[in-house]
Amino acid sequence: MVIHLNGDLGAGKTSLVRGILNALGYTGRVKSPTYTLLEPYHAGRLDLRHFDLYRLRDESEWEQAGFRDEFDGNNVLFIEWPEKAPVPPADIVIDLIILHQGRRAIIKSNTAAGKACLKQL
Ligand SMILES: Nc1ncnc2c1ncn2[C@@H]1O[C@H](COP(=O)(O)OP(=O)(O)OP(=O)(O)O)[C@@H](O)[C@H]1O
Ligand SMILES: [Mg+2]
Repeated sequence: MVIHLNGDLGAGKTSLVRGILNALGYTGRVKSPTYTLLEPYHAGRLDLRHFDLYRLRDESEWEQAGFRDEFDGNNVLFIEWPEKAPVPPADIVIDLIILHQGRRAIIKSNTAAGKACLKQL
């Protein structure tokens, strides 16, 4: 499951991932992968990967880091700034828009798997 998170700096992408992990029962600290680019988690029965590609320099850094291997069909992947790398296409796309108070989330599915997932919400 590949989930792209779109929205301006500070739109709440990391906060949303933190909320999802907490809802899955993860009790550890969820920090922004601003510098590490990737933070791995295990919660419930799921292996999750949280990417923030804002600071990715170029495609060669992506290749050298071995990030491609994370897209193994088993991990659930949340990707901030997906346009910065040749990441696989999204099953679900979440657009976050900053409002005067709070945020608006527009959630769309692009695949049958994504559609089935959103049906459960
Ligand atoms: N739904 C929300 N309502 C109000 N404030 C929010 C909401 N979501 C996040 N925030 C606040 O906005 C700030 C930025 O949030 P966050 O770090 O999650 O953004 P981000 O989209 O991941 O940014 P970046 O692109 O820099 O990684 C934080 O102070 C957070 O508390
Ligand atoms: Mg973030």
